[in-house]
Parts: sequence; structure tokens; C-alpha cells
Amino acid sequence: MKEKLLAGFREVFKTEADNVYFAPGRVNLIGEHTDYNGGYVFPCALNIGTYLAVKKRTDKKCHFYSENFAHLGIIEVDLDNFNYYVKDDWANYPKGCIREVQKLGNELGYGLDLYYYGNIPNGAGLSSSASIELVTLVMLNEEYGLNIDRIELVKMGQRAENQFVGVNCGIMDQFAIGMGKANHAILLDTGNLKYQYAPLNIEGYSLVVTNTNKRRGLADSKYNERRAECETALEILKQYKDINALCELSLAEFETLSDKIQAEVIRKRARHAISENERTILAKKALDEGNLAEFGRLMNQSHVSLRDDYEVTGKELDTLASLAWAQEGVIGSRMTGAGFGGCTISIVKNECIAAFKENVEREYEKTIGYKPTFYVVLVGDGAKKL
Ligand code: GLA
Repeated sequence: MKEKLLAGFREVFKTEADNVYFAPGRVNLIGEHTDYNGGYVFPCALNIGTYLAVKKRTDKKCHFYSENFAHLGIIEVDLDNFNYYVKDDWANYPKGCIREVQKLGNELGYGLDLYYYGNIPNGAGLSSSASIELVTLVMLNEEYGLNIDRIELVKMGQRAENQFVGVNCGIMDQFAIGMGKANHAILLDTGNLKYQYAPLNIEGYSLVVTNTNKRRGLADSKYNERRAECETALEILKQYKDINALCELSLAEFETLSDKIQAEVIRKRARHAISENERTILAKKALDEGNLAEFGRLMNQSHVSLRDDYEVTGKELDTLASLAWAQEGVIGSRMTGAGFGGCTISIVKNECIAAFKENVEREYEKTIGYKPTFYVVLVGDGAKKL
């Protein structure tokens, strides 16, 4: 892959790149929509992601090119004077990262030629945007010798997305991509950023990601809306309990207070976040104990809660999950990521994967009208220089 990037760079910029970097995509096993509620998440980094070849320039311009958006050509950015522009499209993510580096008081004395290529399916909920952010930040850190520590880079990625791009995401994606470890999932407490690696002992089984192939459309505005609903719930519950985040409550504590929330929709949103947080802790424990059946049961429950209480699934994801639940050799299956389209994650017995794909594809197409796409994914390392 490194060779491919170097060749692509040469063709576009007519010169040789200095270095190549990689940042993975991520998939979340369980703990969905908890990361902006101070709860646990349990994601892992994938072996697919974003590659970046770079060369220093002598002026103060950055030239961005992506093989995935070749029709946009080279996007030029002046390091001394740039802003968010809709026309800059994907390049707004790396621009937001540069802005974060500058905000720390770093003077970037020269520009860069940058050639990106990603093999994460776009808009599938596998965090192609956080992957672009982290590959950019790890590169900037190295190319300009900034010595910023990894967790700080992760936070900068999140801020770039919140403040420059305008999506109010939590920290999960950037954390999983920045801190990932091959064959391990990460249990992260988003309330205090304490984390532990959990070996992914699923011998004989694989992680199968299935893409609904639904266009995500309103996903970002719906995402911000759910976040606001959780904030409303928190404001109400704070009057009765000294908490800073919804996931500081146990489900039992929440049940005693839930009737203080008048609006049913707000009550359901809070119940999802809090119940999902408990499921995530239980799931990590089940994995440690090698109890895959329990892990799968919790995944399925997570989907039901995201469907009924959080209402972020939709017909495509619900169809995929129900079909997966009915297949032989499936331990568990649920939507993963923000929802509103995107992918499911299923744990499937290796001998059963072929039949799983065939059956799910056939039945999904009958119901939805087009085919899903399957990816048997491997769990890889976090962002790095190649
Ligand atoms: C998106 C966001 C994450 C997280 C998930 C839902 O992926 O970027 O921060 O909130 O949705 O769990």
C-alpha cells in the first residue's frame, strides 16, 4: 500500500514524497451514544483506513489531493489565512486539524503537499472522517516535530470536528483510531478517559461488518438533535441528583427518578444512554470470561434499545439486524456508529459466514430493494507512520 501511495503522489505532484502515514477506521462493539454522556464505549481499530503521503514545500501553502475525491483536484490552502469552505469538501477535516495545531501556538513555517487515499467505505459509519483527522494530526506532529502526546492529538481531532466542521461528536472515534491495538478492543470511560485494552478472544469467529448502503442524508443534524435531547434530560435530573453526566446514574437509580422527566421522548433517550452504559460494562466482563453467548445477547439488546428508546436505527439497519439474528452461527448483531444508515456489526462463526452473507443479502434485497455489502474485518493498530 505504501508503494501505491508513493506512486500516486508522484503522479499528482511530479516529485517524490518524504513519508507515508496510516490511520485506521473503527468499529464499536457496544456502548453506542454513550460517549457524550460520560459513559463507557468498547470500540476497536480496523485494518482498513486512510493513507497519507506527504512532502514539505518551500512556501506556506498546503496542497490537498485525495484519490477518493479525484474530481475535486488539488485543493489549495494558505497556512496564514484559511477558513471553512463548503467547496473544500473533505479537506475541511485536515484544515480543522491544522487550525488545532495553530491554536496551540505553533507557527507552521512551511507548507505541505498531501496525497490521501482511504479504503474505508464512505459514509458507512466506520469513521472515515476521524481517520482523516488522526492521520493528519499524527503526520503534522511528526513533520513539524511538535511532540504532542497521543491523547492530546485525539482530543484535537475531536475539537477539529466539533468546532471547525460543526459535528458535535464525542471522543470515541478519535480515541479508538489514535489508541487502537491489534486484536484488542478498548474499554474507554469517556467520563475521565481511563481505558484498558481487552484481548478480543473470539477464536473460530469473525467480526462481520454489513453496510446497509443507505445514503446517510440527515445523519449529522439528527445526531446533534439526540445530543441535545440528552442534555435536556441531564438538566432535569440534575435538580434531583448531583451528577455531571447521564451515565453517572445506574439504571436502578434512573428508574426511581425517570418519572421526573415529563416528555416521554426525553425519558427514552436517557434510558438508552444509561442502560447501554451498563450493558457495555457487562459485555467487557463477558468477553474477559470467554462468555461469547452473553456478549452476543448484550449486543442484541443494545440494538433493541437503539431502535426503541434512542430511535436511530431505521428500516435498513433493523432489517439487517433481524436477518442476522435468524442465521446459524451468529453470536450477536447490532447497528454500530451513529446510526441512521451505516453498518451493523455481527459476530459470526467462521464456517457460517458464507451462508450468512448469501441469506442476508438475498432477504435484504427483497425487503429494501438493493444489496448490502459485507466486510470481514480484522482488528489492527492505531494511527502511525509507515
Ligand atoms: C458517532 C460519533 C461518536 C459516537 C457515535 C455513537 O460515531 O462520532 O462520537 O457518539 O456516533 O456512539
